[in-house]
Amino acid sequence: MIIRSNLAITLDGKIARAGGKYQALGSPNDRNEMQRLRALSDVVIIGASTLRQHKQACLKNVPGADKPKTVLSHSFCNAVISRQLENISVNWPFFKAPNLRRILFVTTNELTKAQEKLFAKTSEIVVLKKSSRTSAAEQMIKYLESAGFSRLLVEGGGELMWDFVSHNLIDEYHVTLTPKLLGGKLSPTLVEGTGFTFKQMLSLDLTQVRQVNSELFLTYRKRS
Ligand SMILES: NC(=O)c1ccc[n+]([C@@H]2O[C@H](COP(=O)([O-])OP(=O)(O)OC[C@H]3O[C@@H](n4cnc5c(N)ncnc54)[C@H](OP(=O)(O)O)[C@@H]3O)[C@@H](O)[C@H]2O)c1
Repeated sequence: MIIRSNLAITLDGKIARAGGKYQALGSPNDRNEMQRLRALSDVVIIGASTLRQHKQACLKNVPGADKPKTVLSHSFCNAVISRQLENISVNWPFFKAPNLRRILFVTTNELTKAQEKLFAKTSEIVVLKKSSRTSAAEQMIKYLESAGFSRLLVEGGGELMWDFVSHNLIDEYHVTLTPKLLGGKLSPTLVEGTGFTFKQMLSLDLTQVRQVNSELFLTYRKRS
């Protein structure tokens, strides 16, 4: 599985305002970059908080279409991780996008039968093992590989990033550095979670820098 991540950050490393309404940080050039990376992927994964904010599916642009949409049945997948899908509604556009395979990874077995039935109309529900020695991210990768996928794009937010970063699972980090400052102690950053010690801290190699107006499109690779 090749694993890429793609997020836009402010100069102070934030990806959003805490609890604020969804607002894109990047310019239309950043959205083009997102589409370029989705085109290289067959699964996009997001954390439940990101879904709760956006409510939209992460779709690929089809050449000639005005809006991003998918056409090929089940060739593209969106995955979400959540403990138990709390405050997630099947009425959101995410669950209505046609021809999209949806996988909901959950970590508790506490969905009611009614909830399960409701989500199962549009999505596969996969229960991850909590006690397992393998992390949630590793279990998700294994599942996606067994389902035939080989190119995963992690689109955030910061908590989901930590699931992958903490086990050094991301091959290529794509970061759009936007010329903005947001501040806010509680505003989520590129990577959240418990964090590394200085000794464990990951070092990456910068492999590409592209400037478009005041935005920088940065690519870092995992050190082998
Ligand atoms: N600037 C950008 O490029 C960008 C990209 C993406 C998102 N964002 C923004 O970032 C914000 C969200 O980021 P975030 O860091 O707060 O949250 P997040 O990573 O999107 O989602 C966190 C949630 O995902 C679920 N989750 C993650 N890891 C899990 C695990 N190992 N086991 C079980 N559940 C797990 C939990 O859901 P439950 O609470 O359901 O249990 C957790 O509360 C939003 O405002 C969004 O708009 C910005």
